Amino acid sequence: VVRPRIVPSVLPADFSRLGEECRSLEHAGVDRIQWDIMDGSFVPNMTMGPDVIASVRPQVGLEFEAHLMVQDPDRMLSHWVSAGCSLVIVHAEACTHLHRTLAAVHELGARAGVALNPATPASAVAHVLDLVDLVLVMTVNPGFGGQDYLASMERKIAEVRSLIQDQPHEIELEVDGGIGRNTINGSARAGATTFCVGSALFRHRDRLADEVAHLRGLAES
Ligand code: DX5
Repeated sequence: VVRPRIVPSVLPADFSRLGEECRSLEHAGVDRIQWDIMDGSFVPNMTMGPDVIASVRPQVGLEFEAHLMVQDPDRMLSHWVSAGCSLVIVHAEACTHLHRTLAAVHELGARAGVALNPATPASAVAHVLDLVDLVLVMTVNPGFGGQDYLASMERKIAEVRSLIQDQPHEIELEVDGGIGRNTINGSARAGATTFCVGSALFRHRDRLADEVAHLRGLAES
């Protein structure tokens, strides 16, 4: 049985104290940190570039994953890796040549993930699974934190689970968007093992470790 991974998104963090916020997440026992990268084109919102990640990198020991909600991710792949991300997640919808992009991530020495927007079928990854280390099933439309979980995605989570089940290498199934106390168990039952949590975690800044443990417990129950 895979131990549930809790991966906070730093989208709701206080950007004036990013280093401190990431350190407190590390002390709270999270598994990795997700950077939500938005370019104002693939999604309406904008967040940060690789230099912000690079400035936080030396302050925490945790693995960083970059969730690239950007058009044409190929252009900047190497920048995210040199900024300190060892897992790079691209959107299937933003890649003209997804197979080539995933191979390029591996050539840079990073692990490769594919994110699927709500309308994108699980089959979008069916022919590149040999290059995939993680599938990120969006349970909201990307661009903003604090949105409601789309329970209708649970059928797709199950489809992805059955697609990756028989692969010879481990492929993580991560969900992202509206994940919290009331939704983590449903997504886990559908087949998710890694949970990206933003607002549901940051609203418990005073008791992060407890909330991380609580969410893990709910995912396992
Ligand atoms: C959407 C973002 C959010 C974020 C998590 O573009 O990817 O899903 O990671 O935000 P919450 O947990 O607040 O929905």
